[in-house]
Amino acid sequence: MCGIVAAAARREVSEILLEGLRRLEYRGYDSAGMALIDNERNLQLHKQQGKVSELEKAQRLQPVLGCTGVAHTRWATHGEPSGVNAHPHISGQRVALVHNGIIENHEALRRELLDQGYEFASGTDTEVVVHLLHRELAAGKNMLQAMQSTARVLEGAYALAAIDTEHPDQVVAARQGSPLVVGVGIGENFLASDQLALRQVTDRFIFLEEGDIVLISPAELQVVDRHGEPVERPLTSISAAVEVVELGAYDHYMLKEIHEQPQALAATFAQASGPGQLDECFGAGAAEVFDRVQGVQIVACGTSYHAGMVARYWLEELAGIACEVEVASEFRYRRRVGHAGTLLVTISQSGETADTLAALRDARQGEFVASLVIANVDNSSLVRESELVFLTQAGMEIGVASTKAFTTQLVALLMLTLALGRRRGMTPQKQREITAALQALPDYVQQTLVLDTAIESLSDAFIPRHHALFLGRGIYYPIAMEGALKLKEISYIHAEAYPAGELKHGPLALVDNDMPVVAVAPGDELLEKLKSNLEEVRSRGAELFVFADRQAGFASEPRVQILPMPHCPEVIKPIVYTVALQLLSYHVALQKGTDVDKPRNLAKSVTVE
Ligand code: AGP
Repeated sequence: MCGIVAAAARREVSEILLEGLRRLEYRGYDSAGMALIDNERNLQLHKQQGKVSELEKAQRLQPVLGCTGVAHTRWATHGEPSGVNAHPHISGQRVALVHNGIIENHEALRRELLDQGYEFASGTDTEVVVHLLHRELAAGKNMLQAMQSTARVLEGAYALAAIDTEHPDQVVAARQGSPLVVGVGIGENFLASDQLALRQVTDRFIFLEEGDIVLISPAELQVVDRHGEPVERPLTSISAAVEVVELGAYDHYMLKEIHEQPQALAATFAQASGPGQLDECFGAGAAEVFDRVQGVQIVACGTSYHAGMVARYWLEELAGIACEVEVASEFRYRRRVGHAGTLLVTISQSGETADTLAALRDARQGEFVASLVIANVDNSSLVRESELVFLTQAGMEIGVASTKAFTTQLVALLMLTLALGRRRGMTPQKQREITAALQALPDYVQQTLVLDTAIESLSDAFIPRHHALFLGRGIYYPIAMEGALKLKEISYIHAEAYPAGELKHGPLALVDNDMPVVAVAPGDELLEKLKSNLEEVRSRGAELFVFADRQAGFASEPRVQILPMPHCPEVIKPIVYTVALQLLSYHVALQKGTDVDKPRNLAKSVTVE
């Protein structure tokens, strides 16, 4: 992952770089650094282990200043998080370089460079790139030529930005497989992994394409494509105000985002509030595409994948349309047998997830009727590269654990179910029922948020535990998976989800009085079967935590705690129950004292495969 920012200006840029890093911290936060060229044409460098705030402290103590610079916030791939492995990496005291991505052939390149006398200070894959660039510059090439020769030998994914004291007002950059955008200023230019990092200085952007190499200085901006040909890339103005996301009265972004769900769900569904607007929410041409759709292939990662798994139940049961769901990292490397008329649906909060993006790009010509992305971030790579787009209205999600993005994805997928279902014989009565349920959804979520204290009191039992099981049947199995993912992600308790019927085929061996079991048991048609499964667990001594419809007929008893959930329409229960599970994870993590918004080893946007 990692976030990069660079600037070439006539004013001092260290604060611009730091502000950019703060805005990119969602991409990684295990170490950070920046390098600037000062007035004497010397490189000035700060690198710190830890979050961007550590770099800020170092900068306050001993400022590094300059008008040209590169900066980086890291999510470690090669080499542990440390000051030494933090970027920028330096070569010959003249070149400094930052990198987002993975250089796959770094070992061979390292051997070659060692033979040529280069010395390595870090355990990263990136350091080979800075030495390669130095070698080309030392041979007399200009910045663009040197980066072109360097990029030619790299295998893997990268967004790179570099400065050279011999070219003190220039930054050279390259993009292959990782995002990079140019921010166009007046008498100054910038680069970043995400336009968001630069909204403080400009609203005009050039989104670079794969293989592009770019040179910026205060006065110039040159882009060459993968063949070395000069190209003009379109300039995009983004006028919408930058969302300033404050914590307000909340202790964590995750909690704030959980509480924002009623509004986010309403805003997402409101996009279709007018008559005949349902298809339009998916983009121009959606109606014509949907008329031809015979099946759906959903591809996503993590929480977004769980949204896809929920949607499969809706699409098959309510819309009568075949649906396959697969994690992107598997889908992209599998030899596939396509079915005519299939719509490719990618789901992604960030719109930048590397595997999901690669799956979209790998889709063979003619393999799908069209591609549709359900994303939360406008102008993201998946949004730019998909034919149809549904933008969820979750607003910016800062917490690494996805909450409101997931539930708004589910609203979008239920809207897709309606759009496809009414073409396949879904009765007007059913359509009205689903629409009414979606309208009432924010209210049921609000009623669930009110259960916060009751849910908090359940969390005590999880604190001394190392493991937890989550059970669900049917559509609640993916909801149990999402509940388990949230718990493991922020509390570091090992949690696994199973379809309740699978228990006796192995996992029951794990169950004893040290294993809390969470059951998502809303009281649907599988309730009686689920009750039998829960008895199997209880008789092995496990403590049960059952999230059940208050009318489902469950009562608390020794070692069985019931959390009575609002009685609401069946179709929206997966969304409503998710909110309760989010709160459970939040309270467990809070009590364990973990970093709720920035859990260890993770990043918000996963832009490496
Ligand atoms: C969820 O809590 C995770 N942090 C993670 O699984 C995330 O959903 C996944 O990385 C996919 O991200 P995306 O939705 O931005 O594509």
